Amino acid sequence: MEANHSFFGFFAVLSISMKPVRIPDLRAMKATGTKIAVLTAYDATMARLLDRAGIDVILVGDSVGMVVLGFDNTIPVTLDMMIHHTRAVSRGARRALIVADMPFMTYQISPDEAIRSAGRLLQEGGAAAVKLEGGRAILDIVRRLTDYGIPVMGHLGLTPQSVHALGGFRQQAQDADSAARLLEDARALENAGAFAIVLESIPADLGCKVSSAIAVPTIGIGAGPHCDGQVLVSYDAFGLNDLSVPSFVRQYADLAGTIVDATRSYIDEVRSGSFPPGPTEK
Ligand code: KIV
Repeated sequence: MEANHSFFGFFAVLSISMKPVRIPDLRAMKATGTKIAVLTAYDATMARLLDRAGIDVILVGDSVGMVVLGFDNTIPVTLDMMIHHTRAVSRGARRALIVADMPFMTYQISPDEAIRSAGRLLQEGGAAAVKLEGGRAILDIVRRLTDYGIPVMGHLGLTPQSVHALGGFRQQAQDADSAARLLEDARALENAGAFAIVLESIPADLGCKVSSAIAVPTIGIGAGPHCDGQVLVSYDAFGLNDLSVPSFVRQYADLAGTIVDATRSYIDEVRSGSFPPGPTEK
């Protein structure tokens, strides 16, 4: 009995895990109360591993600028950099939905430029959707992109491309007025056609309120447990980032420690001559 159960369970998991995740699946997940798991990736190897584990969405975040390229913030990231990394992720992932960030000043100037930039992320990068930061200020752009069949994920709260205007990476919407504005922005993005909205660094009760006020899924990062899904920067989640990480991050591994230890072992063995082995050793 137990063996049969595991046998069918194995095939059930296999059939779920092989089916590519599409945009409408995310809305269905919200409707059935299935939480959506999202992580960032910037290269094919990480994308392949996340995909193998069954992640729903891979976000090629412009956080690539900070965690991979060593910038202080995401502003220096260009469209060509995002296309380069999105293309690598697309080569690695088979099942997960790939969403690519539109970098600073590639969508704000005009809807035409936004369409050109987003088109390149889909056509050259292989993304299925793009993510844009902002609320009411970008509604025309969101409408135009979705009219042209380019799926848009919104991003509200702490929007890192506005780090200078916000005065740093800090929690947003802490008072009643800014919380009400954020809720209105979320409704407006939904009406403009966004298929999901990232809520970054806002109070948990506001994350809960927004999630129940709109039909499209909310994906929280530092926005409490009531969002319809969660996203983390993979380098933070896996302990690969040995610089400071936001307080809401949970580390699921200590890859920085593992890599430093492995590197020390390698250095020791190279110095001592025990690596590589001689012709008669293994
Ligand atoms: O760039 C990024 O990784 C992001 C997530 C933190 C949501 O926008």
